[in-house]
Amino acid sequence: MHCFDLPEFNVVIAGGGSIGRALLEEVQLIPGFNQAIVLERNPDPAGNASAVLHLKMDAKDPDSIKDAAAQAARHVNRVHLLINTVGVLHDGKLRPEKSLKAISQDSLLNSFAINAAFLPLLAQAFSAMMRHDDPAILASLSARVGSIEDNHSGGWYSYRAAKAAQNMLLRTLAREWRLSHPKATVLALHPGTVESRLSEPFISANYRKRVLTPGECATSLIKVMASLNVSDSGSFHDWKGEVIPW
Ligand SMILES: NC(=O)c1ccc[n+]([C@@H]2O[C@H](COP(=O)([O-])OP(=O)(O)OC[C@H]3O[C@@H](n4cnc5c(N)ncnc54)[C@H](OP(=O)(O)O)[C@@H]3O)[C@@H](O)[C@H]2O)c1
Repeated sequence: MHCFDLPEFNVVIAGGGSIGRALLEEVQLIPGFNQAIVLERNPDPAGNASAVLHLKMDAKDPDSIKDAAAQAARHVNRVHLLINTVGVLHDGKLRPEKSLKAISQDSLLNSFAINAAFLPLLAQAFSAMMRHDDPAILASLSARVGSIEDNHSGGWYSYRAAKAAQNMLLRTLAREWRLSHPKATVLALHPGTVESRLSEPFISANYRKRVLTPGECATSLIKVMASLNVSDSGSFHDWKGEVIPW
């Protein structure tokens, strides 16, 4: 049995960006969907409904991650699908580095905090709710550019390195959970190039027609997750289901 086939399953989505919101819509179409909890920096209380709860959480603030998990535990005993969609490539101050001279400690540490360190803190906070005898998935959005083997073009030092670090953290978690959470499948996923605030500045006019909408991406990622099981735990797949080398 897969968690999507359960008569009732609960979902936690970290991040309320383009892909996070699209995944939220898509999981609600699955017949067994019961409860979703979205963790985000600026939750809109108007978005709360009985089946969808938005909780405040900042990926750079470990206490807020623990607080959000404690609040979630008041609503659900078991989490069946925990998806990390939090990420940063650029913000008001930082842009992906084209060359060594653009690197700063700030850009490296900011990217590592959000794109890498957040994942194990999230898993730690939700570990007890993910440990049960139903099938479960922890999926984290990585990026193909985080593949060391796939790095042929260089650039984007902080983002690439932080996603590579996330991949190692995820793989290590998968090894630990194989024993402690034997029903959980831990996956790194590359969503494709998807229309969003994160990707917008880097999509050229020529490339635009090959870019996925968030809805197309979410449909594909759900299909990929549905096709994998616990024997795939600790693997890295793209939105088409193809394995990406670490
Ligand atoms: N779009 C693509 O082409 C693409 C390609 C490869 C990988 N990815 C990965 O896919 C994931 C989702 O990206 P997206 O395209 O949906 O971009 P997005 O719309 O910018 O979503 C990213 C989300 O991360 C949240 N976030 C950033 N820092 C945070 C923090 N400190 N605390 C809490 N939330 C924080 C943002 O929250 P705010 O709304 O509060 O800023 C935003 O909701 C990211 O991990 C990204 O690296 C995307």
